[in-house]
Amino acid sequence: MSSVPATPTASLPRPAARRIDVTAERQATAGSVLGNHLNAAGSALPTARVVATVIDHLRAEELHGGYEAAAEQRHALERGYSSAADLIGAAADEVAFFDSASTGLRTIVDALRPPAGHRIIASSSTYVSHALHLMSVAQERGLELIVAPTTSDRTTDLRALEEMLSDGTPSIVSVAHIPTSSGLVEPAAQIGSLVREYGGTFILDATQSVGHLSVDVDEIACDVLVTTGRKFLRAPRGSGFAYVRRELWERMLPVAPDVRGAVWSGPRAWELDSSARRFETWEGSVAGRLGLGVAIEEALSRDVEATESWLCDAGDRLRAGLTGVDGVTIADPASTRSAIVTFVLEGVASAQVVSELARRGVRVVSVPASHGQWDLGDRGLASVVRASPHVYNDDGDLEALVEGVASIRGSR
Ligand SMILES: Cc1ncc(COP(=O)(O)O)c(C=O)c1O
Repeated sequence: MSSVPATPTASLPRPAARRIDVTAERQATAGSVLGNHLNAAGSALPTARVVATVIDHLRAEELHGGYEAAAEQRHALERGYSSAADLIGAAADEVAFFDSASTGLRTIVDALRPPAGHRIIASSSTYVSHALHLMSVAQERGLELIVAPTTSDRTTDLRALEEMLSDGTPSIVSVAHIPTSSGLVEPAAQIGSLVREYGGTFILDATQSVGHLSVDVDEIACDVLVTTGRKFLRAPRGSGFAYVRRELWERMLPVAPDVRGAVWSGPRAWELDSSARRFETWEGSVAGRLGLGVAIEEALSRDVEATESWLCDAGDRLRAGLTGVDGVTIADPASTRSAIVTFVLEGVASAQVVSELARRGVRVVSVPASHGQWDLGDRGLASVVRASPHVYNDDGDLEALVEGVASIRGSR
């Protein structure tokens, strides 16, 4: 057998890094010119193409009926699984669609059925709905629930985590890659490698990171990843998806199999779908799912790494601008590199800052401690103002926020 010399790659020029074309993004996004929308972490502005996909499908349902319209779109719906898989480095049979991240997390945690004596280790960055579910599961099933200690930069303390995992107690480790309450980015891949080493199930809540950062399930070594559509993916509300590693879904039985995820094969028998779709339900918004598919394709063609770099840079610029405003304290950990920017304005409640900014056309939100007690509550913060740009935000949007906050301060 002749051996083929390896293609020399070292001397090849690296392809030019893709750049984000903000002008084109704004042209494709009707809402971008109507105000300064800086709330991608809440629900981002979708592109006109995503919206048209949803509306066209609703029209098709109106004219032909829901089942008939869905049958016409079966190839596009199928493509949604492979696009979602491509986005996170998974296989299509490891993807299941849900109506939200919370539904995905709840369905999968319930299907894990951790028995009494097992342990859940949750990051301090855990989101409210997931935390409430973990607390009730732990209470009902007799599990220990530990909030992972953090280091001074608020990330999960890897040494403390290793110490816990090394005692051999079977554990579910659940981490929010980026929380709702700050721009923190958890060291997901390092956590994944610890869980791999000591054993356990690693659930990554990537609700705020998919579409924002480059996320690869193999690099991170997570067993489960859940995300929502409406945030950095710019998909319609009521959409989301999860990844469940094949070796895991093969062993997991959904608590409530649905006609979508199982076949009722005999009077007392049923067979589960041979993919992660076993966790899905039959009913759902087909229009929303088609819109999610298009939003994922757009995220892929926009280039995930270019998007990450642009978004993190926008976050840095916003933080730098806000730091210059008298009375502002940035509430993100110092090491933050993400497009979620949180701050407080001395003497003005966050909700008040948000409503005064809204009057100026600047859209941000206030995140109360009740959305993240293990983070904001632990830091003694009642609430923070959260701004989160996306690729349709230009310099004018960022400046409008900084100037708006300065003028609120000046009016006091
Ligand atoms: C980190 C994080 N996880 C989960 C969720 C819940 O997502 P959903 O509303 O789609 O259930 C949110 C929502 O803000 C979030 O920020």
